[in-house]
Amino acid sequence: MSDLETDFTSRTSSSKRLHERAKHVLPAGVSYFIRYFEPYPFYISQAKGSSIRDVDGNSYIDFWMGHYTHILGHSPANIVMEVRKQIERGSHYGVCHELEISMAEQIVKMVPSAQMVRFCNSGTEAAMYAVRLARAFTGKAKLVKFEGGWHGGYDALHTAVSPPFHVPESNGITTSALADTVVAPFNDLDETVERLRNIEIAAVIVEPVLGAGGCIPAEREFLKGLRELCVSKDALLLFDEIITGFRLSPGGGQQYYSIEPDLTILGKILGGGFPVGAIAGRRDVMELMDPLLHERPDFSFQGGTFTANPVTLTAGLEMLKTLENGRIINQLNDEGRRVQVALQDIFDRANVDAQVNRAGSLFHTHFTKDRVNSVNAAFDADREKLNDFHHALMTNGVFFLPRKMGAISSAHSGEDLDRLLNEVQKYAKRG
Ligand SMILES: Cc1ncc(COP(=O)(O)O)c(C=O)c1O
Repeated sequence: MSDLETDFTSRTSSSKRLHERAKHVLPAGVSYFIRYFEPYPFYISQAKGSSIRDVDGNSYIDFWMGHYTHILGHSPANIVMEVRKQIERGSHYGVCHELEISMAEQIVKMVPSAQMVRFCNSGTEAAMYAVRLARAFTGKAKLVKFEGGWHGGYDALHTAVSPPFHVPESNGITTSALADTVVAPFNDLDETVERLRNIEIAAVIVEPVLGAGGCIPAEREFLKGLRELCVSKDALLLFDEIITGFRLSPGGGQQYYSIEPDLTILGKILGGGFPVGAIAGRRDVMELMDPLLHERPDFSFQGGTFTANPVTLTAGLEMLKTLENGRIINQLNDEGRRVQVALQDIFDRANVDAQVNRAGSLFHTHFTKDRVNSVNAAFDADREKLNDFHHALMTNGVFFLPRKMGAISSAHSGEDLDRLLNEVQKYAKRG
């Protein structure tokens, strides 16, 4: 056992017991395998602001922030207050209520390309319905996704997420489910155009910043080229803004890059800390989900029991109103810049080969001397060292989900960020 593991196990005996128990009833002892790390994950008892506390009483400054959902930190007071009031009025109506209109209006106000909205409960679900809608609208089947792009577990998009791209990401996805999915290299417009020559496509789906793929911002020319390509091929451009939405700017990546997609999928921050997904976009496309306008077989279905859940929408509306004027987001982007520059400086001075990537208030360290602007470059970097780095930080009370990028929230204080820099400094000095 390494020194780091010995230290971890000596501080986390209750987590260890919980994980042993969990393994009997949850595959791998977890509810989502990305949350697993060696030797076993710690179990959280409480989260508030920038801090999480485990069942053994260890506190951590959290940079994982609930899969990047908590841009205002864990359980912000204004959201908690509104949610409490809403629960008294009802946790789920299952029929129409005014909040769904107000929330849709708020999204239309903030997200440049959004004219209409439909809600669902996760990013995966939003991706699934958006793909169906794009196919329905264009009357075509083929989708284009990019290497390293993660859009959730929907069969038609669950491919080429991590190298080697030809190996299936999951057993149980049929060949036919992926037969209409074309994979192209991110940030490589020429090759993308080449691969699509003579292919009819329904949609191109792209993250403005590859999240799971390594915190890699799209080059503006790439997104602009995709916009033009979609127009020329009568296809829809679909932005997956599940991470970038309400993060890069109040209007997400499309506002930040000044490029408007036809459809956008949203999640994470949108729910104010509660489960959510949404599809937003052009009126003429979105109206295909209206069976009063488009009868079967033209109509494209979307729906579900918990759609437009009032607790989620209460939290989400409070979240969006807090972010709308851009003040918090601009401040977080400035802090992101400061953290990136400081971390890069620490590694450079210590002669550690590292690249600190950043997009807004998201940042990620890659241990390599080469610039990281593709998912291959991200996965070619020293991932064992990245794992070791995150475990070393964890031992010292600074939490990144191992190998994942970090996110700054408005709950992170100057001291929290200084603590991060200090711990990275100690790590870099050790080499
Ligand atoms: C860019 C992106 N798209 C889609 C998803 C899937 O969202 P969910 O996990 O809510 O299904 C994620 C989740 O991490 C994501 O990061």
